[in-house]
Amino acid sequence: EHDPLVIFTPSGKRGRFPVGTPILTAARQLGVDLDSVCGGRGICSKCQITPSYGEFSKHGVTVAEDALSEWNAVEQRYKDKRGLKDGRRLGCQATVLKDIVIDVPPESQVHKQVVRKAATARAITMDPATRLYFVTVQEPDMHEPTGDLERLKSALSEQWEINGLICDPHVLRKLQPVLRKGKWQVTVALNKGHADDTHRLVEIWPGLHEGGLYGLAIDLGSTTIAAHLCDLVSGEVIASAGVMNPQIRFGEDLMSRVSYAMMNPGGDLEMTSAVRDAINTLARDIAREADISPELILEAVFVCNPVMHHLLLGIDPVELGQAPFALATSGALYLGARDLDLDALNSGARIYILPCIAGHVGADAAAVALSEEPGKSEDLVLVVDVGTNAEILLGDTSRVLACSSPTGPAFEGAQISSGQRAAPGAIERIEIDPDTKEPRFRVIGCELWSDTPGFVQETAVTGITGICGSGIIEAVAEMRMAGILDAAGLIGSAAQTGTDRCTPQGRTHEYVIHDASSDGGPRITVTQGDIRAIQLAKSALYAGARLLMDERGVDHVDRVVLAGAFGAHISPKHAMVLGMIPDVPLDKVTSAGNAAGTGARIALCNAAARAQIEETVTQITKVETAIEPRFQEHFINASAIPNAVDPFPHLAQ
Ligand code: FES
Repeated sequence: EHDPLVIFTPSGKRGRFPVGTPILTAARQLGVDLDSVCGGRGICSKCQITPSYGEFSKHGVTVAEDALSEWNAVEQRYKDKRGLKDGRRLGCQATVLKDIVIDVPPESQVHKQVVRKAATARAITMDPATRLYFVTVQEPDMHEPTGDLERLKSALSEQWEINGLICDPHVLRKLQPVLRKGKWQVTVALNKGHADDTHRLVEIWPGLHEGGLYGLAIDLGSTTIAAHLCDLVSGEVIASAGVMNPQIRFGEDLMSRVSYAMMNPGGDLEMTSAVRDAINTLARDIAREADISPELILEAVFVCNPVMHHLLLGIDPVELGQAPFALATSGALYLGARDLDLDALNSGARIYILPCIAGHVGADAAAVALSEEPGKSEDLVLVVDVGTNAEILLGDTSRVLACSSPTGPAFEGAQISSGQRAAPGAIERIEIDPDTKEPRFRVIGCELWSDTPGFVQETAVTGITGICGSGIIEAVAEMRMAGILDAAGLIGSAAQTGTDRCTPQGRTHEYVIHDASSDGGPRITVTQGDIRAIQLAKSALYAGARLLMDERGVDHVDRVVLAGAFGAHISPKHAMVLGMIPDVPLDKVTSAGNAAGTGARIALCNAAARAQIEETVTQITKVETAIEPRFQEHFINASAIPNAVDPFPHLAQ
């Protein structure tokens, strides 16, 4: 007689086990991904499984109703007290009697896949560095004179095969009272070391901790700080929030902040404490929004450009302001929240900062590489992350190049006369009729176009307040297509364009999109100055991309990915009409949303991804735009709309 056969789905792993073997034990021996926090004590319910009965022609087995043991007292108690979904059993309590097929539902898998929103995106596999373990520690006695920490260490070694426990003094301080309060049963949160087998004690709770475990993925930009609060067990984003970077008061762009640090003794430290305060406030706000205690945030991952990186760390960024743009360190950083004064988080919380690629190409670019994986692309892909600084990557399986280009904040609606951030009331889409030169537009918060019935009533709530980044890109491109703007970027007069919407403004002209000023409302126009700001921004972006193409020796790319907090909202056609991106078939332009933020989320949820990106950045070729004479040449050519020399054959179609 054979031992009963146990088949696990969806993995398909199978093996024979003696009658009476717990399903959790069988899963462990076969390497099936079945979670457990309590180590089989029947209290955490993480090991839930669904037994299947009946005929399985695919697996060649028939499963009888009595293939598993009856409910034992532990399992029954759990079910009575806490309930179990229909058909579910606790894998640590149910034992094998006969051949059986066992399904492991996604909630019971540690390495479950988290689906990402973008259609083309790969899922994130959960493999967090921080995990919970329930452990029973031996009580001290007069004959066994070891310390409480030493007994915790041996318990972890025996019950979880975890060795090499590191305990920092501030966590050690909690150890004795918690062990006694939990009557020698505690839950510990351990953070696995990156290069070795060590585990660091992050937090300890009496008994079974059921309050959850959370992490923050933070995209620390020069203009905006955006954070996602993630459940480190399910991988779900449970809240997202953003605040303005308070360093703006020291300078709008990176170089002005570096100069502030150079001109003002202690200026770097002022900026360091400003940004750390903002992160603490953001962490508290986002925890409140998600209705959790910020004490439960046990990890945070940061992505940022090199200047933000240094200022976050409290390092004077002066070297980044001058050639050869040396970073204090380009490597990834593994720190404690206390090292960065992030006291809103749990005091034991761990911090991971992605590696930088080079002096001008930061951890944000590394995060984009992690999210979009240009190095795994079969065709040549250009990834542009549009922000105050553009992060640009070009590559395929053979080689990846990267640079960063100072576009300025125009694409975010700043430095634009009617510009504003993307918020309700902002014009985000616009079309201009090439014959009548009349505009129609849509504002955020309203589904209707401005020339349709009901629009006026609909927008009465939000009002029409300005024009956001994607709106200004469309406006300029539409003005060019309607002949209101010439290739050099000059707005024509009413006589030249045949529309009264072009009105004089000083010695130049402006185009009026919306004018409610007679009713005391806003007057929204595109001025010659706005056109110039967009020309500068798009030229910087395009010149960066062209420089990478030169380095790679190509004159076209196969596809383009637009990323960035608002990259997802840019219309590919308008971006190309403007000459922001090189010529490519329009259906080969996709958007990736906030790729840097997604990269941070991947590194938060998957510890192996950290090792992966640390390796990847060493293979990326860095191109420094600031010292490259061809950058200037490309920049000047790109000032024309779409370009003075480069052809755009796909625009003709
Ligand atoms: Fe915790 Fe089964 S492993 S209840």
